[in-house]
Amino acid sequence: MGDGWFDLSGRVALVTGAGANGGNGHASAVALARHGADLFICDRDEAGARETAREIEALGRRCVWTLADIGEADDISAMFDVLDREYGKVDILVNNVAAAHRSRPEDLSLENWRRVMRVILDGTFLCSQEAGRRMIARGAGGSIVNISSIAGISALGRGNFVYSVAKGGINQFTRELAIEWSPHRIRVNAILPAQILTPGQRKMFDDPRLDPGTLRERLLRGIPLGRLGEPDDVAKGVLFLASDAAEWITGILLPIDGGNLALNGGGDRVWPAGL
Ligand SMILES: NC(=O)c1ccc[n+]([C@@H]2O[C@H](COP(=O)([O-])OP(=O)(O)OC[C@H]3O[C@@H](n4cnc5c(N)ncnc54)[C@H](O)[C@@H]3O)[C@@H](O)[C@H]2O)c1
Repeated sequence: MGDGWFDLSGRVALVTGAGANGGNGHASAVALARHGADLFICDRDEAGARETAREIEALGRRCVWTLADIGEADDISAMFDVLDREYGKVDILVNNVAAAHRSRPEDLSLENWRRVMRVILDGTFLCSQEAGRRMIARGAGGSIVNISSIAGISALGRGNFVYSVAKGGINQFTRELAIEWSPHRIRVNAILPAQILTPGQRKMFDDPRLDPGTLRERLLRGIPLGRLGEPDDVAKGVLFLASDAAEWITGILLPIDGGNLALNGGGDRVWPAGL
């Protein structure tokens, strides 16, 4: 593209949970590489991480992968040691890893509450802090993109309680950090996807306990644009927020949801017959 707004040549992007068996992280890493970035990816699934690295190298970009569990502080620290050795800098961080535990609030154990909070909130905090320290020291700015969820801003019910509360935390984390690091030209934004057809989401459609016959139709009723999301829908948002096309944008929560958050629970995309 002539204006170069989306050109990421010379930049290093770290994407967590970018293994090829995942969805949004994998698609985002590939999109950033297609636009010129070199990648540093992590996953707890070795085969998935290797496969993503192979795909990115086939695009002519460099990709270093490492095994890390984003729920473990020591793994995050070790991951940034690898980053320092291999690249010596980071320009873009995509905090993609999450955890969930489906439970009625009255039955949720403290252990499961803490595990989800640890992966989503502690993990995003520690990765952002490590990346931010390096960006501040280098003085060249940067972009952090947090993959949040529509669940962080509206309630889903159906046992999503702890996941939704943690994603709500990510939204406020995004705003606070955007202000704190604005003097360093480190932009911090979040993407709020609605249901995306990732491998995890597809598994939900096959889960008989979730009423698979009607689940897809029920979800679609809430999406004015009339289809569920694809990982590339999220990747396009990541590419935009990571790039210079978004250089005056920080602290935003960007829904990528086919219009879901715009639609009131009592509204409908279809006019009743007869009107
Ligand atoms: N899929 C959806 O419909 C949807 C909707 C809204 C938001 N999101 C968000 O998008 C992000 C990615 O979701 P997804 O559906 O692509 O996820 P996913 O579970 O399909 O894949 C995530 C990847 O991360 C890896 N991973 C999982 N836990 C990890 C950990 N603790 N440490 C390191 N790696 C780990 C997995 O191996 C996998 O490769 C999450 O933040 C999720 O909350 C997803």
